Amino acid sequence: MREILHLAAMNPPSHTAPDAFVVHAPGRVNLIGEHTDYNDGFVLPMAIERGISLAVTRRPDGVVTVRSAHEAGAARFDLRMSLEPGRSDWARYPAGVLAGYQRLGWEIPGFDALVTTDLPSGGGLSSSAALEVATATAVEALCGRALDPLDKAILCQHAEHEFAGVPCGIMDQCAVALGRAGHALFIDCRSRAFQHVAFGSDDVALIVFNSGVRHSLADGEYARRRAECEAAAARLGCGSLRDVTPAIWAAGHRGLSALERRRADHVRSENERTVAFVAALSRGDWPAAGRLMHASHASLRDAYEVSCRELDVLCEIAAGLPGVFGCRMTGGGFGGCAIALVVAESAPAVMAALRTGYQAATGIDAEMFTTRPAAGARVLAA
Ligand code: GLA
Repeated sequence: MREILHLAAMNPPSHTAPDAFVVHAPGRVNLIGEHTDYNDGFVLPMAIERGISLAVTRRPDGVVTVRSAHEAGAARFDLRMSLEPGRSDWARYPAGVLAGYQRLGWEIPGFDALVTTDLPSGGGLSSSAALEVATATAVEALCGRALDPLDKAILCQHAEHEFAGVPCGIMDQCAVALGRAGHALFIDCRSRAFQHVAFGSDDVALIVFNSGVRHSLADGEYARRRAECEAAAARLGCGSLRDVTPAIWAAGHRGLSALERRRADHVRSENERTVAFVAALSRGDWPAAGRLMHASHASLRDAYEVSCRELDVLCEIAAGLPGVFGCRMTGGGFGGCAIALVVAESAPAVMAALRTGYQAATGIDAEMFTTRPAAGARVLAA
């Protein structure tokens, strides 16, 4: 784990910290590289044009209040005491982030914050990571000092582990903190090296489609997948599934249980697809990128078993429509959203056909929108 404590001393407070401002933190989709981040693998998320805004006002008494325009009640934290895990509501995310900066020894001023969002709740577009990174960005603005954005993402990931009990990888917080307009973010989750990869052109559009099935990672399936991967890697004699070379796989895969073999095969092949997808992007080879998306979805459905009927139906409908290069579930799965890469001028017809076909097959009137890659979390206005 990258050590972030030393950085606390490196950026001294400035005296121009604002008293009232708005922070925006985007949601994210993952183009490809699913369930690979906690296996030390490759991911390619991008920040989207929807997200969370936090309207922040400094207050003098060391107290933080956070309210949401969409949920009842307000959370109140007294920063003169150290914050501990224990909440079960949405305010555990800001609580975990405040605790992270407390542990770094930062003197966090009190503030009032109001959360508004246009991200579908439970849609798997990283509303929790957006709230974490928005809170971190607000703390840094109030303090007039900042961690390196990668360290900010890691602090937020720790908050999610400890305060929400989800053993997530680093992808979501990185996408939200490090996103760049017009670019996807290629991350090597082992070294944490990342690269902004130009994504998009006037010729293609990305459709985000909310299945309407609520996705929840805290119910144990996510943690179970992670444990299954660790068991499979250990049985193959590897530190993580990232280390599984074709030779190790050929020699060892028969020693795995059928379930471990499926899990490991997904991670191994998904890493290859992610690298191939980046290469396809650099050539502008949209058909190849689309085929990799279809293959990714099939692997998540059959080998990793994190899709659901509705997401499968959606991808099947999309695959048969003219103008669709590829479609796949995105994010942790068990519901949430799918993405489709389409010929730009076909996007309205594809969306109309998806709406009708999905409604006929599932009875669900699903929300969908197009997005381009957006910038990461930032202070918008003083
Ligand atoms: C969730 C987690 C991420 C990642 C994805 C699956 O979004 O928060 O870290 O593991 O699932 O790719």
